[in-house]
Amino acid sequence: MHIFDQIDHLTEVVVSCKITTPDELEAFRIKFLGKKGVVSTLFEEFRSVPGDQKKEVGQKINLLKNLIRERINQFMAGVTDNDDADPDTDLSLPGSPRLLGSRHPVSIVNQEIITIFSHLGFTISEGPEIEDDNHVFTKLNFAPDHPARDMQDTFFIHKHAQSEDSVDDILLRTHTSSVQVRVMENQPPPIRTISPGRVFRNEAISARAHCIFHQVEGLYINENVSFADLKQTLLFFTKEMFGFETQIRLRPSFFPFTEPSAEFDVSCKICDSKGCGVCKYTGWLEILGCGMVDPDVLDNCGIDSQKYTGFAFGMGVERLAMLKYKVNDLRLYFENDLRFLEQFTYSI
Ligand code: DAH
Repeated sequence: MHIFDQIDHLTEVVVSCKITTPDELEAFRIKFLGKKGVVSTLFEEFRSVPGDQKKEVGQKINLLKNLIRERINQFMAGVTDNDDADPDTDLSLPGSPRLLGSRHPVSIVNQEIITIFSHLGFTISEGPEIEDDNHVFTKLNFAPDHPARDMQDTFFIHKHAQSEDSVDDILLRTHTSSVQVRVMENQPPPIRTISPGRVFRNEAISARAHCIFHQVEGLYINENVSFADLKQTLLFFTKEMFGFETQIRLRPSFFPFTEPSAEFDVSCKICDSKGCGVCKYTGWLEILGCGMVDPDVLDNCGIDSQKYTGFAFGMGVERLAMLKYKVNDLRLYFENDLRFLEQFTYSI
C-alpha cells in the first residue's frame, strides 16, 4: 500500500476507535505512539519517500500524530468520567434504606428482668463463665457425691482424679448461683443484687432443653430478711413481667444452698389457667427456684449467719421468654432465623 493510503487508513482507524477502559487506552497509546508503534514506523518509511513528496507526507504524518494525541486526551476524559457518574443516574433519588437489626428476644427479656429488679434497688453483679468447683458446688453445700457434679451433667475443663480434691476442678458454670458466692465473699451485707449470665449443661438439645442458656440469679442479704420478703419481691416481679392479674404459687422443694426452698409458679397466661398443653393442664407454670440462703452457705462465704439472713432465687431467661412470647420450642432462640427474630421489638 502506498504511504498516502496507509496514512488515510490509519486516520480512519483512529477516528472510529472506541475506548472504555484504562487498559484499552494504554494499549492504544502503545500501538500508535510507542517506540515501535505506528507513528515511529511511518517516520522510518518517510526516509525512503522521494524528495518531491517529502513535504506532503511529513505534514500528513504530523496530522495523524496530533489526531492520535487528541483522541488519547478525549479517551482519558471519558474513562475517568465513567468512574464518577453515569449520566443516566438520577442523583436526586433517595438512598436505599439500611436494614436495622432488632433485639434478640432473650436480650429483651433479660433487660426487662434487670429493669424490674433495679426498681427494687437491686444492683447487677457478674462472674466468670469458666468457674471452679468451689464456687459452683462446694460453697453452695453440694455434697461431694451430688449428681450435678457428674460428668454427664457438667462440662469439665479440668477434672482431678476421684481421690484428689475436687474443689480445684475447673468447669463451665452450670448455674449463676456461683456469682452469689463471689459477691458474698467480696462484699459485706447488706447485699441486694442480681446476676444475669450464660450457663452450660451437658444436655441433649430438645424443644425444652439446651446445653447453653441464660439465667438471672437474685440475692438479698440483710438483718431480718424473711420468707415474706422473698414472696413479696417475687410477686412484684411477676406482676411487672406478666401483668397485674397474674397469680403466683410457691411449692416446697429442695436445693442444697437454700433452706427452706421452693419452686415458684405463675398462672398460665396461655390458657388463662384453664389448662393447656404448655401448663400440662395444671393452669400453672414453674418459672424459678428460690429459698432462704442456708446459714451454712453464709458461713462458707464469710457472712455471719447469726446476724444475717437472706433469700435467693434463680430463673431461666429462655423459659420466661417462651412463656411471654408463647413460643413452644426453645431451639428457635438459638437458630437465629431472621424470620423469627424480626417479630420481636423492644418495648419497656
Ligand atoms: N441454681 C438453681 C438452678 O440452676 C436455681 C436456683 C434455685 C437458684 C434456688 C437459687 C435458689 O438462688 O435459691 O436450677
